[in-house]
Amino acid sequence: MYLTPEQEKMLDGEYGEVVSRMMRLLVRLGDIYNAEKMIPVASVQVAGVSYKSIGDAGLEFLEDIAKEAKVKVLTFLNPAGMDLENWREMGIDEEFAKKQAAIIEAFKKMGIVISATCTPYLAGNLPRYRQHIAWSESSAVSFANSVIGARTNREGGPSALAAAITGFTPCYGLHLDENRQPHVIVDVKAELKTSTDFAAMGYYIGKEVKKNIPYFRGIKDAEVDDSKALGAAMAASGAVALYHVEGITPEAKEVSIDGLEKIEFGKEELKETYDKLNTGDEPDIIIFGCPHASLNEIIKIARLVEGKKTKKPFWICTSRAVKEIAKKIGLDEKINQAGGKIIADTCMVVSPIENLFNTTAVNSGKAAHYLPGFCKQKVVFKSMEDLLEG
Ligand code: F3S
Repeated sequence: MYLTPEQEKMLDGEYGEVVSRMMRLLVRLGDIYNAEKMIPVASVQVAGVSYKSIGDAGLEFLEDIAKEAKVKVLTFLNPAGMDLENWREMGIDEEFAKKQAAIIEAFKKMGIVISATCTPYLAGNLPRYRQHIAWSESSAVSFANSVIGARTNREGGPSALAAAITGFTPCYGLHLDENRQPHVIVDVKAELKTSTDFAAMGYYIGKEVKKNIPYFRGIKDAEVDDSKALGAAMAASGAVALYHVEGITPEAKEVSIDGLEKIEFGKEELKETYDKLNTGDEPDIIIFGCPHASLNEIIKIARLVEGKKTKKPFWICTSRAVKEIAKKIGLDEKINQAGGKIIADTCMVVSPIENLFNTTAVNSGKAAHYLPGFCKQKVVFKSMEDLLEG
């Protein structure tokens, strides 16, 4: 792979041992995927933040890197294992909290913005169309590639950190035009009424297309929240990192769909998916915000519960930035009065909810996919409206 003189210096250790180690990792990755060169990245999102996922070995690795290295570009984090301020309210134990705080401290030392969210684009890290970035979390990767038209592969924790510290990523995969063409047309015949319907469709299509790129036709409209629900579910049940929607996503008009295989998503497939994802009946808790809730979703929930007490307690997971705005405009008060909590920095999958609940209700296809395996939960999968009414 061609390296610029600056990149050679990084590799040769002129900027220290950690930078050299990070550059070696990127060069190896680039060699595996036949990248011809490195490209600068505008921003990074690093995964592997929750103590539940990375454990003591991960913490040690990060503390070691933090002794020497600083990030070069705007870098955000994926959700941590707890609300970094109100972890006691979540029922998190002291030992877990201590380790999680140490992980965050290591990231802070590297100059990373402590914004632990899977929706960085709603919290101050918004790339532009065609900009190269190195993001990790699969739903954020899908949103950035598909809805914004930025360019990122799905980075692992170490390769994202290496991109943050060097400012570069190898140019392969979804950074290249030729790899952004669709492989299959999805004709949408079902009426999609809620973002949970989009999530259900995403779950179904992800399983069908695996890591291929789908091109959707027949979707009349999709809000930002619908798109994030769709992409998150497709990335979870399959490994879809980019999708196009005719008339809606920016690259849909630039790609060719001639001769592609077609699949249909209709009323029956929608029902079949709801049936499949519902594995429990009486939830202990309802948790919204997978991917992290937008301000608009919190406003909708606050309206639905205003002046009521819900039958089940509920949490809304979101970014710290959105939680602060919600607090400022009085939404948290309405939500608390109804029996809910706004939880920042974490989510139902990466926090240890298996120690707290057995059945969790969600409106997210991605959460419904991961909760049984990651958190030993039975799942109730319904729309926001149905969960808050039922
Ligand atoms: Fe985000 Fe957690 Fe869902 S990281 S996409 S809220 S599983």
